[in-house]
Amino acid sequence: MSKQTIKDVNVKGKKVLVRVDFNVPMDKETGTKITDENRILGALPTIKYLVDEGAAVILCSHMGKPHNVFNEKLKLNKKEKAKIEALPAEEQEAATAAALEKAKKDVKKLSLAPVAARLSELLGQEVIMAKDVIGEDAKAKAAALKPGQVMVLENLRFHQEEEKNDPEFAKALASYAELYVNDAFGTAHRAHASTAGVADYLPAVSGFLIEKELKFMGGALENPARPFVAVLGGAKVSSKIGVITNLIDKVDALIIGGGMAYTFSKAMGGNVGNSLLEEDKIDLAKEIMAKAADKGVKFLLPIDTVCADDFSNDANTQVVEAGCIPEGWEGLDIGPKTQELFAETVKNAKTVVWNGPMGVFEFANFAKGTIAVAQALADSDAITIVGGGDSAAAVTQLGYADKIDHISTGGGASLEFLEGKTLPGVAALNDK
Ligand code: 3PG
Repeated sequence: MSKQTIKDVNVKGKKVLVRVDFNVPMDKETGTKITDENRILGALPTIKYLVDEGAAVILCSHMGKPHNVFNEKLKLNKKEKAKIEALPAEEQEAATAAALEKAKKDVKKLSLAPVAARLSELLGQEVIMAKDVIGEDAKAKAAALKPGQVMVLENLRFHQEEEKNDPEFAKALASYAELYVNDAFGTAHRAHASTAGVADYLPAVSGFLIEKELKFMGGALENPARPFVAVLGGAKVSSKIGVITNLIDKVDALIIGGGMAYTFSKAMGGNVGNSLLEEDKIDLAKEIMAKAADKGVKFLLPIDTVCADDFSNDANTQVVEAGCIPEGWEGLDIGPKTQELFAETVKNAKTVVWNGPMGVFEFANFAKGTIAVAQALADSDAITIVGGGDSAAAVTQLGYADKIDHISTGGGASLEFLEGKTLPGVAALNDK
């Protein structure tokens, strides 16, 4: 059943609470410089639409995982308290003061104020920043907000009730508005107060970003143009098993690269040297390959490997056939023949979903496989979908973003969606 969107309701003159995912990476040192603003850009169409339609827009989001702030009060968490209590009595006071000072700095780095400032530049209008979430400042600012104005609440996770999906907290958020819009696809896999609970108190619809994510990813899973090819990479079979199991029933070809390919290689009797290996997943790898054969799904593993004598960008390298990695060497990327094979398969597809790098792409010397896959998707006429996280970062960094039909803004959320799970943040929205 499809979900209502902001186009299905009247927003004019209404106060609208919009859950966005402004959990953007920040420069670690300063905590004020945004290093990737894609999630802010992703939310702009919804925000602009609401502004243009004359709604008063109250944005809310989390940022990171604050551990030392409870109900907006700075307080050391249990682990840190225990560390201090283990110190000699005369050292405890100073240690507490130092820990609180550090916590203050860390928490400041998780404020949404820099995001509000950037949003203001992008929108070309003032964005009002509240000092709290459900405190006096936010309440007063929300009450005074006029149609066409935009405000941002402080980091939702400064209240532990957010992640606990506390009904009173959800009710307090809902009290600001007459309508709730969820556009935080990246957080839609969390059943939190602002992503799920709040929908118990307000009419709830999706924004354009969630609508687009569901259209592309849902479309690929439900009714793909064929051949439908999935390219899966990343370090571990264990973290991709849900996706593999769900997709194997839907795709025509499954391409496996990245660190997890070595467990499959081992399952086929290959030598993997020092490569990443999950011994306890070898039987599972065999089962997956048998299932693919059973279903007539083309199952493609690397046919050659770039291996190294050390886990470093400057290691000595050699290209060997898959399953022939010498002792003391480890596979860090797919080889050139595999790049061609995977690119050719992508070329012949009508729908491609890609999730996970093909090698250790953070080392320039082992990024070629990931670049080749990104290039193949960019060159393809198929509907191309990149499911969040590292692969999304790779296509964006390479400048291919415009050539991909859909780059998901979800990391964990897109993975769970591809696993076929119901996302609580989507389930909570009103049906059409
Ligand atoms: C993400 O970055 O994947 C989302 O913002 C969700 O964040 P979380 O994993 O801290 O819930």
